[in-house]
Amino acid sequence: MNERKRFFVTGGMGFIGSHIVRNLLEKGCEITVFDSFIQYVEPSGYDRFANPYNRLKDVFDKIKIVRGNLTDSNTLRRALYECQPDYIIHLAAMPLANLANIAPEEAKDSIISGTTNLLCLLQELSSLKKFVYVSSSMVYGDFEMIPVKEEAIKEPKSVYGALKLCAEIIVKTYSNLYGVDYAIVRPTAVYGPYDGNKRVIRIFLENALRGEPIQVKGKDVALDFTYVKDTAEGIILAALNKESSREVFNISRGEEKTLLEAAEIVASLIPGAKVECDEKDSSYPSRGTMSISKAKRILGYSPKYSLEKGIKEYCEFLKERLGGQ
Ligand SMILES: NC(=O)c1ccc[n+]([C@@H]2O[C@H](COP(=O)([O-])OP(=O)(O)OC[C@H]3O[C@@H](n4cnc5c(N)ncnc54)[C@H](O)[C@@H]3O)[C@@H](O)[C@H]2O)c1
Repeated sequence: MNERKRFFVTGGMGFIGSHIVRNLLEKGCEITVFDSFIQYVEPSGYDRFANPYNRLKDVFDKIKIVRGNLTDSNTLRRALYECQPDYIIHLAAMPLANLANIAPEEAKDSIISGTTNLLCLLQELSSLKKFVYVSSSMVYGDFEMIPVKEEAIKEPKSVYGALKLCAEIIVKTYSNLYGVDYAIVRPTAVYGPYDGNKRVIRIFLENALRGEPIQVKGKDVALDFTYVKDTAEGIILAALNKESSREVFNISRGEEKTLLEAAEIVASLIPGAKVECDEKDSSYPSRGTMSISKAKRILGYSPKYSLEKGIKEYCEFLKERLGGQ
């Protein structure tokens, strides 16, 4: 009898998804990745870390990859039938708040229609034990209190946060109607290898590695930076743990750090790096630490990467890759 757990990972070729795939392979799971190979990147030019082939090319022979869009129900249905998943982790979506603000229709199609299409096919799957929806800390808007708990007020400040919150409600509603078990996770400020987007830790590292100053836009701005391997582990625990049923979990490091602290960690690793401070970007919600006590208690989630450790590992990764640019 085949006892390997079968996972269906939408968006598995992406930044977080590719780390989930590697983690699941280490756990001996059988994996189908469903991905359209649409890479949502900031309009700052081609970025080779966003090339999905680079992310998982060494394990292509160990996973099944279906190239398809969530809005194409026929391809999606076929892929689900063939996989007969025990668990679905749903990441595929536009992941950028800035982009969603300027392309709200596209964001809605990606986040809402994609999720709804997928949910509509779940009743047909007799093997399915859990559907995990990957939401975002952007559903909270400004954090009501620090650390922000899952039940805190949610007043998103961006189209992206609003759509993610709406998708969470659709997941819950669908589960109430059709009895599909789910868990929802809210990651935040994820950083690490293969991020196709120039998020803040990567910008700091790349500037320092190129001998340019590290520009800190708002030195007191605090984020709960989370190394992508911890994020991936937290999401997988939410799938596998029986107690996660119909629950929502913050998944982060659980410890805020300011942009200045992050910049100083980067500077400590790269000789000669200089830090310069500037005004903060006021369009972003005021955030900070997320409470991860629920994830620790119920899932046994225990993030392994301090910001120092995560930045060091990410720095090594970038050093190797940037050498050839
Ligand atoms: N990166 C972060 O800091 C962060 C924080 C919180 C939540 N999230 C959420 O995590 C998820 C993954 O984010 P990421 O940073 O890995 O993004 P990513 O862009 O690297 O990965 C998303 C993947 O989904 C695929 N995809 C997108 N739309 C699709 C569609 N309609 N059909 C099939 N495949 C599609 C893309 O091709 C890509 O491989 C997203 O839902 C995002 O909102 C990310």
